[in-house]
Amino acid sequence: MNVLVTGGAGYIGSHTCVELLNEGYGVVVVDNLCNSNAESLNRVEELTGKKVKFYQGDVRDDALLRKIFAENEIGCVIHFAGLKAVGESVEKPWLYYDNNLNSTLVLTKVMEEVGMQNIIFSSSATVYTGDNEMPLRESSRTGNCTNPYGWTKYMTEQILGGMAHADQNWSVVLLRYFNPIGAHESGRIGEDPRGIPNNLMPYITQVAVGRREKLSVFGNDYDTHDGTGVRDYIHVVDLARGHVAAVRYVLAHKGCEVFNLGTGSGYSVLDMVKAFKQANGVDVPYQITDRRPGDLATCYADPKKSAEVLGWKATKDLTDMCRDSWRWQSQNPNGYNA
Ligand code: NAD
Ligand code: UFG
Repeated sequence: MNVLVTGGAGYIGSHTCVELLNEGYGVVVVDNLCNSNAESLNRVEELTGKKVKFYQGDVRDDALLRKIFAENEIGCVIHFAGLKAVGESVEKPWLYYDNNLNSTLVLTKVMEEVGMQNIIFSSSATVYTGDNEMPLRESSRTGNCTNPYGWTKYMTEQILGGMAHADQNWSVVLLRYFNPIGAHESGRIGEDPRGIPNNLMPYITQVAVGRREKLSVFGNDYDTHDGTGVRDYIHVVDLARGHVAAVRYVLAHKGCEVFNLGTGSGYSVLDMVKAFKQANGVDVPYQITDRRPGDLATCYADPKKSAEVLGWKATKDLTDMCRDSWRWQSQNPNGYNA
C-alpha cells in the first residue's frame, strides 16, 4: 500500500518515510521545499534501498493533488506539510493561517473527491491550555493558544474532527507531538533548520559544532527542579514509528481519535545541556537570559493511550537522542547544504 506523505522532505517527514519503507509501504511525497531540501529524500532512498516518488509542489494546489491521486494508488495520507515557527507566526499570521489551514482544506477536498478518506495529522502539544495539570492526557483542556501557529493546529483538529463526525467515511488520527529531537542513527538525515534555530536541541548542536557562540537559557526562575523549563523530548525515530502504528490504526477504524506522542518524562534545559555533554564529551557554553514570552514552565505527556490503543511506545532514551543529534550535526555541519 502507498502512503502519501505531505511535507515528506522535512525533518519528521523524512524519518517517517524511512520507517514506512522499512515496514514495506510504498511512499509518495509532496513537498514544496519551502523549509527543506530534496537531498533528504535521496538519503531516505540510500538508507532504505527503496524509491520514493517525489512531487515538488504545494499542497494547496488542487490540480497537483488530483494528478498525484490519479497516478498513484494511495491508501492513506500523513499530513506533515505546514509552517512551524512560533515567532514567525506572530509576525506573519496570514501566512500561517493560509498555509496551514488551506493545505488541509484543499487536501481533504481532493481526498473526498477520490474517495480515499484516511488521514493522519501532525498536531502538537501546543494545543493544550497552559493551566492543565501534568501529565497531559488527550482529554486535558485545549484551546487558548498563545500564537497563530498554535491556533492553526487547534483549528485543524476542529476541522478534521468535525468532518469525521459528519461523514462516517472519514478515518482521522490526530497526533499531538511533544518535543521531537535526535536524528536517524546513521547520521544521514536530521533536522536542518534555516537561519537561527528556534528550538533547543538544534541550538545546542550548532553551539557544539562552533556555528554559534553560546546557548541562551531562557529563564532559570521557573517552578521546576532547577528553575529552567521542562519538556518531554522524544527521539524522532520513535516519533516516526508512532506514525507507522497510526497508519495501521487509521486503516482499521473510522471516526476521529487523538493520541499523544511523547515519552512521559520531562527534562529541564540544564538537564539537556548536561546530558549532551555526557553523551558526546562536548561542552555547550551557555548564559542565563530572560524568559521567552509564551513559554510554559513544564510540559510532558501521559503516553498511556498510545501504548494501549496504538501499541506504540517510545524506546529511545536521552543519551540516544543527544548522541544521534550530535552525529547528524557533526557529520553535516551545514545540514544538507554541505
Ligand atoms: P519541517 O519544516 O521540517 O517539515 C515540514 C515540511 O512541509 C517541509 O519540508 C516544508 O517544505 C513542507 N511544506 C510546508 N508547507 C507546505 C505546502 N504548503 N505545500 C507543500 N509542502 C509544504 O517541520 P517538521 O518539524 O518536520 O514538522 C512536520 C509537522 O509536524 C509540521 O506540521 C509541524 O507543525 C508539526 N510539528 C512539529 C513539531 C516539532 O517540534 N518539529 C512539534 C509539533 C508539531
Ligand atoms: N530554550 C532555551 N534556549 C533556546 C531554545 C529553547 O532555553 O535557545 C528552552 C525553552 O525556553 C523551553 C525549552 O528550551 O523551556 C524547549 O524549547 P523549544 O523551543 O525547543 O520547544 P518548545 O517546547 O518551546 O516548543 C516546541 C515546538 C513547538 C510546539 C511545542 C509544543 O517548537 O512547535 O513544542 O509541542 F508547539
